[in-house]
Amino acid sequence: MDYLYVPTPPAEMEPELVQEVCELRLRERHRVLDQDLHDKVQAAMVGLVRDTEIVPHRTLDFGTGSGESMDVLSAFAPRVVGCDMSLNSLIACRRPNTIVVAPEGPLPFAADVFDLLHALFVMHFRVPTSMLRELRRCSTTDGFLVANCYGSSIVPYREQMTEAGWTLAESRVVPDLDGHVVELWRPT
Ligand SMILES: C[S@@+](CC[C@H](N)C(=O)[O-])C[C@H]1O[C@@H](n2cnc3c(N)ncnc32)[C@H](O)[C@@H]1O
Repeated sequence: MDYLYVPTPPAEMEPELVQEVCELRLRERHRVLDQDLHDKVQAAMVGLVRDTEIVPHRTLDFGTGSGESMDVLSAFAPRVVGCDMSLNSLIACRRPNTIVVAPEGPLPFAADVFDLLHALFVMHFRVPTSMLRELRRCSTTDGFLVANCYGSSIVPYREQMTEAGWTLAESRVVPDLDGHVVELWRPT
């Protein structure tokens, strides 16, 4: 995704390190972010959501960061909320409908609220299973979660999602991007 080198594989990073790396990346994003790659993966996520033919009413952008997906998601659902563990990212995001959360949860939402949960360039990091369970709790029973992942992070992320009560419904390889997938999950 970018040119910042960190020796620890993303799937093994503790949340404190994830936050540090993400905030460093945030400050340097115009220099280090591969926008073309980011756009390709976002487009593949959108294609996956469109093909489900479900019209979401409430969307949560988990790990919204500087809010790169907020406009895209607003085209799908009238209500979009972003959350992130990085307050600095949300300050850069400058959107009113965002909230800071602890990396392991809980999420400050009622159960059964969101029918679309979206996580772009988040799940390659080690997201604590307790947070993945929180996402499951906040999802409607017929809701779905769409996320991307890549490389050696794919196996651990899938294991954790399954442990947290999610079932993989569909997985697609991102066109022209070796080793990148976008995936659709349903509550188990
Ligand atoms: C690489 S950035 C991606 C941001 C945005 N989704 C995008 O595509 O530009 C990953 C974001 O996920 C957030 N994040 C990672 N793990 C998290 C967790 N356990 N809880 C909340 N936010 C998390 C980070 O703080 C960071 O803002």
